[in-house]
Amino acid sequence: MSEKSKQESEQVKLDNPLARILGIETSCDETAAAVVENGRIILSNAVASQSDLHAEYGGVFPEVASRQHILSIYPIVDQALKEAHLKLADLDGIAVTRGPGLPGSLVVGINMAKGLVIGSGLALLGINHLEGHLYSAWLGEEGAAPGQAPEFPLLALIVSGGHTELVLMKDHLVYERLGGTLDDAAGEAFDKTARLLGLGYPGGPEIQKAAEEGNPMAFDFPRSWLEDSYDFSFSGLKTAVLRTVQQLEKQKSRLPVADLAASFQESVVDVLYTKTIKAAAEYETKDILVAGGVSANQALRKKFKALRKYRVHIPPLSLCTDNAAMIAAAGCFRFHAGQRDDLEMDAAPTWSISDL
Ligand code: KG4
Ligand code: ZN
Repeated sequence: MSEKSKQESEQVKLDNPLARILGIETSCDETAAAVVENGRIILSNAVASQSDLHAEYGGVFPEVASRQHILSIYPIVDQALKEAHLKLADLDGIAVTRGPGLPGSLVVGINMAKGLVIGSGLALLGINHLEGHLYSAWLGEEGAAPGQAPEFPLLALIVSGGHTELVLMKDHLVYERLGGTLDDAAGEAFDKTARLLGLGYPGGPEIQKAAEEGNPMAFDFPRSWLEDSYDFSFSGLKTAVLRTVQQLEKQKSRLPVADLAASFQESVVDVLYTKTIKAAAEYETKDILVAGGVSANQALRKKFKALRKYRVHIPPLSLCTDNAAMIAAAGCFRFHAGQRDDLEMDAAPTWSISDL
């Protein structure tokens, strides 16, 4: 077969990745398992969230997270298979998050996947968590048909609790990282600011709720543009909110939490949106993809969805925060690209998307 027709047949396989994959995700504070068919259809999607457990610490406590994953992993995998009405023998492979994430949490999912692979002979696929977030945009909600698949090249913004990344996705599984945060991730900024304002954890949904009653123009918080780069920085914004809160407290004023939350959110959304649009224009993409926990934010979704010049892909709300369906989806595409990992596969806690 000529090189060109080989490439074309690879492309057909990736556009139509016929496979049933079990996904397992334990990189942070959700223990999750899901079965996905053909990279796009969710047959089951089980998640056990630990966020109530971590709320009292105001963030994820790694030791508590890994112990909870150990308790939840077997029942969650069992639930995912039962809800899909499938046995391991009906599947093609097992995809598991290898990284980035908390080492003690990642190994729980990886060991579960290895055990299942040893027992079943299925293919083992180690998946990058950020790639998983990208592939969440290929999925339809459970029980629903997926929408139009994103087309390449596309500009992707991944915004989560641990990451803020701008990525040019040139084709299936082919990435160029354009920039990322130099300090706090977008979700981390939401979580830290929520704590500062006396709101609960996780901070993103709390800030969003408080902001609904507030004026986004009430405080002129800084935007860190870092000219000519696609990097981000949110630590200056966090400090500006802290200073404002301290000043108001000194004046014994009642904290205008809604206005502070709305103005903070406006600043984050403005920077994320503006930089993404700039990159999409520079790289001449027609498609924009926004994924990760912060893509659940209504202000961010509204701003991107209003774009007429681009096809905008944002996963359904249930697939924005960590889940295993996105890992299984990425696993389908990797399975068809020929990836097979062996039992030596180790966790990769700092795995960058640039290394894919
Ligand atoms: O993707 P994710 O579940 O986990 C990581 O991979 O980090 O993202 C979690 C992050 C948290 O920081 C949370 O506060 C944020 O996503 N988040 C939101 C919203 N829902 C979740 N941030 C802003 N607005 C939301 N509605
Ligand atoms: Zn995530």
